Amino acid sequence: MALGLSMSARRKFRTVIERKLFDTGGDQLAALLRERRTLLITTPTVYRLYGGKVQAFLGDHKLNASIEVVRLSEERKSLEAIEEICALSIDHRLGRNDILLAVGGGVCSDLVGLGASMIRRGIRHVRVPTTLVGQIDAGVGIKCGVNFRNRKNYLGAFHPPTAAHIDPSLLATLDLINVRHGLSEIIKIALVRDSKLFELIESYGHRLLHSRFQSPAYVADRVIRRSIELMLEELSQNPFETNTKRLVDMGHTFSPTLEEESGFSLPHGEAVAIDLAYSCLLAEDLGILSSEHSQKVIRLLQRLGLPVSSPLVTVELCKTAISNAIAHRAGQLNLVLPARIGKGMFLESASSLNEDRLKRVLDRVLAAAASSSSKSAERLGERRAPINLQIAKES
Ligand SMILES: NC(=O)c1ccc[n+]([C@@H]2O[C@H](COP(=O)([O-])OP(=O)(O)OC[C@H]3O[C@@H](n4cnc5c(N)ncnc54)[C@H](O)[C@@H]3O)[C@@H](O)[C@H]2O)c1
Repeated sequence: MALGLSMSARRKFRTVIERKLFDTGGDQLAALLRERRTLLITTPTVYRLYGGKVQAFLGDHKLNASIEVVRLSEERKSLEAIEEICALSIDHRLGRNDILLAVGGGVCSDLVGLGASMIRRGIRHVRVPTTLVGQIDAGVGIKCGVNFRNRKNYLGAFHPPTAAHIDPSLLATLDLINVRHGLSEIIKIALVRDSKLFELIESYGHRLLHSRFQSPAYVADRVIRRSIELMLEELSQNPFETNTKRLVDMGHTFSPTLEEESGFSLPHGEAVAIDLAYSCLLAEDLGILSSEHSQKVIRLLQRLGLPVSSPLVTVELCKTAISNAIAHRAGQLNLVLPARIGKGMFLESASSLNEDRLKRVLDRVLAAAASSSSKSAERLGERRAPINLQIAKES
């Protein structure tokens, strides 16, 4: 006789977009935190910039909350940091119904989320993402994780937050590099889902970048809202990634291998931009995408100061990336390509991706990159030092 346990859990989380969350807004967040103990975890940079406002918010709403400022960074995205978060939950006597509140970028929300998934086998966590990547991607998904044995996000969990509170005014202090990383992900989702969003970025991307999404505020908010909506629509159909056909994987087939090849000195957002450019030209070469549309994408990336190529991109690297993707996607390539701006499709197998084609596309990418070399020179002053992280691949 076979005995089984039938389990079903329907969980929902709320995403609220509200400017001036810690100034004049925040009533919904305060209502959620009331009646519980909250341990707010943030990072030194975010605390320096917003700690005063956060403290005033907690005090004004008379919340039972403590703040811990923890050094959380990509270099420290490890089990050691998880232990630190778990130890803090003991120090602050967090109970089953209490809340961990992450106020920070994607690293902070991934670490706090994973800590929350482990403490007492799962307590609530709430996110206030403070980077563009956090607001439109990391902070509104249900995944969390840490790097392990040189593998990016190798250990992790699906542990949905109770809520994500998105305040675009927190982006005002972000550096341009990090705004670009978020824009790269926004272009990705627009490319496979929404031509209108793509047009908005074409028209306003430059202003949004340089104002750090502060002006025009109504456009910034619309772009953020729409990107989140699209991301949530995609995730809700396939929350646990059992289906390896994921439109959100646009720009994420060649980029993981490229990041790895760079020793992780190439930031994820830039690797995604390079992948987007290569994928568009590949789609054009396969007769899937018109030249008019592929050129539009490449022009937009370049106008926003995102790279479209790197000396590290070679035919060999593309071949390795393709076999890595097949291994990662349970035996199918499922390369996401745009059929037109706003509509993605899947190339299921690699049979049409012969060496000649990969080389021809690479030559075209290099030609496009050469035409924008002056822009790259302009950006050199913004480039930060490579991080000292030897990670093998995104999981
Ligand atoms: N869980 C997911 O679904 C998911 C999705 C995408 C990315 N991620 C993860 O997210 C991480 C990347 O996130 P990220 O790009 O936010 O990086 P990050 O968290 O490292 O933040 C980038 C930088 O911005 C600074 N910062 C944060 N908020 C700021 C603000 N308001 N003003 C000024 N500076 C600020 C931080 O101190 C940091 O130096 C990666 O570890 C990635 O694996 C997870």
